[in-house]
Amino acid sequence: MKKPDRHLITSALPYANGPIHIGHLAGVYIPSDIYTRYLRIKGEDVISICGSDEHGVPITLKAKKEGVSPQEIVDYYHELNKKAFEDFGIEFDIYSRTSNRVHYETSSDFFRTLYNKGEFIEKISEQYYDDEAGCFLADRYITGTCPHCGYDAAYGDQCENCGTSLSPTDLIKPRSMVSGTKPVMKETKHWYLPLDKYQGWLSKWILEDHKEWKPNVYGQCKSWLDHGLQPRAVSRDLDWGVPVPVSGAEGKVLYVWFDAPIGYISATRELTDDWEKYWKDPGTKMIHFIGKDNIVFHCIIFPVMLKAEGSFILPENVPANEFLNLENDKISTSRNWAVWLHEYLEEFPGEQDVLRYALCANAPETKDNDFTWKDFQARNNNELVAILGNFVNRALILTGKYFNGEVPEISETDEYDREVLGEIEKLKEKIDSSFDAFRFREALKEAMNLARLGNKYLADTEPWIVIKTDRDKVKTILNIALQITANLSIILDPFLPFSVKKLRTWLNIDILKWEKAGRHDLLKPGHKTNKPGLLFRKIEDEEIEKQVNKLMETKKLNESTGAETEPVKENIHFDDFTKLDIRTATIIDAEKVPKTKKLLKLTLDTGIDKRTVVAGIAECFDPSSIKGQKVSVLANLEPRKIKGIESQGMILMAEEDDGNLVFISPPDKTKNGSRIR
Ligand code: MF3
Ligand code: ZN
Repeated sequence: MKKPDRHLITSALPYANGPIHIGHLAGVYIPSDIYTRYLRIKGEDVISICGSDEHGVPITLKAKKEGVSPQEIVDYYHELNKKAFEDFGIEFDIYSRTSNRVHYETSSDFFRTLYNKGEFIEKISEQYYDDEAGCFLADRYITGTCPHCGYDAAYGDQCENCGTSLSPTDLIKPRSMVSGTKPVMKETKHWYLPLDKYQGWLSKWILEDHKEWKPNVYGQCKSWLDHGLQPRAVSRDLDWGVPVPVSGAEGKVLYVWFDAPIGYISATRELTDDWEKYWKDPGTKMIHFIGKDNIVFHCIIFPVMLKAEGSFILPENVPANEFLNLENDKISTSRNWAVWLHEYLEEFPGEQDVLRYALCANAPETKDNDFTWKDFQARNNNELVAILGNFVNRALILTGKYFNGEVPEISETDEYDREVLGEIEKLKEKIDSSFDAFRFREALKEAMNLARLGNKYLADTEPWIVIKTDRDKVKTILNIALQITANLSIILDPFLPFSVKKLRTWLNIDILKWEKAGRHDLLKPGHKTNKPGLLFRKIEDEEIEKQVNKLMETKKLNESTGAETEPVKENIHFDDFTKLDIRTATIIDAEKVPKTKKLLKLTLDTGIDKRTVVAGIAECFDPSSIKGQKVSVLANLEPRKIKGIESQGMILMAEEDDGNLVFISPPDKTKNGSRIR
């Protein structure tokens, strides 16, 4: 692509039904902000668009749960999230919302245009209906068992366990989320976007023309296309959303995934009268920043909508990220397993950049990643404090001490000096190419390597010793160190905006444009620098422990309230149960199975016979301690050989959340061989 005239950056509109957490930041908003800031400091024409996604079932369900109106829910979270982004220096040009008037107009117009062009298929079909509540059950209003993985709390639009996208009729044993009852089928009319009609066009556009898209994105698109696209309904029987703007559509609204991406357009309209330039002129390079669960909507459905409408440009790239986990567990709003932005700021006020840094350095760019507080601390203490902060501080303090804060002139250079200057020159190109490929972790690493180099340079050249013998040499050293510092103020700007601002004050300079990066004459001799403060402070173990403990408390709470307990499996028939012959028994002998960690060989008195059972309980029980233990045993399990021993049954154990095992033991006086039913 030739150099674009302007850039349009969109970031997935978060649902206004909950606060923003580190997973959102790492996956979408930090990358989009880094990229936007990069383009800005390069002097490009760029606008960055975001806002609240205020329709859809997640919002109405939340409203119902809390007994308030959907509008109240979105009003609250819109303000909360808008502020959270501002606090973290995520600089959108506009943070709009899809419940406002401009959006209603824009999305209705869009629908009407497609409708008038005959782009929709109108179809009457049978859909699930909740007789008790008197409403149709779209998307997340319905739950049931996933046909792919058996997860029994899959939604009507997606299984969150295996990620498959579903339609309500795919669910095994569907249940209404509204009343909990079994839904019935009822006829209803909807409008469908014929994705299949665009299959050929999409295949060429993505699979041939956009081979450069990230493998995770390209792969998901290919899989959708390989499976063959189907027409997709773009309306719903709901009362919260943008009404379908044609006659005969009472009680129907636009599907949230139809209206939400149009929200990018509405927000641009709200921002500038020039909005059409950004959306319709082919000189615009549009980039969608999203998480991986949004790929199909941004790479297939929205592009088809734009194409069908006919006057809009298409995205140039969709650099979707994978997911971030927290301390080895999936981030979850309902289980409160998250680090919320507003809470972080209470604990670490003014330290936004530390989180920005940790999340970018560990961003889930190519695979799911894990955020741990330990890693957060290490990133801060070993990198931000020990390398970047230390270097910048030394360079400025020494300049203050030896040269009254004035940039000294560079005189003779030796080989080492020239090597370092050479490294500075090479830097920009490397970072640019990382940015071009949306590899921000790599770009950050390169940028930090400059600080690393500077730190090493000062440690090696030891100006604090040389000053006693060779003042001119120290001038050269500090000039170079300060030029590195000025370069850092450019190349770290997209990543650490708060810190770089301080750095610029200390260096006493304005923002330097990106094209200046790589030069070593950024600060003229005699230029006065200011006394520096501390860029980063060390984070103590106790602070980290506090955060980890907070999460442990959450875990405990979840366990005690059952939020962590595994859901009940699918129903079985009574006959299935009566096939099981479970008896009471006593362990009369126990020994470890040699060369295994987990296995015990037990001899049981079952009241009927004496038999051998091999059980995987050695990690919880010492053989000598369980002789005489009453147990329950599944007596008619087909015998099988385990480590050469024939095991004739299975003893029943309860497994607690931490993996601990306990016997299901009848009272001591129970006669062996009694049936359990
Ligand atoms: N609200 C959606 C989510 O959080 C994202 C919507 S992106 C948009 O997954 F393009 F539709 F706006
Ligand atoms: Zn599944």
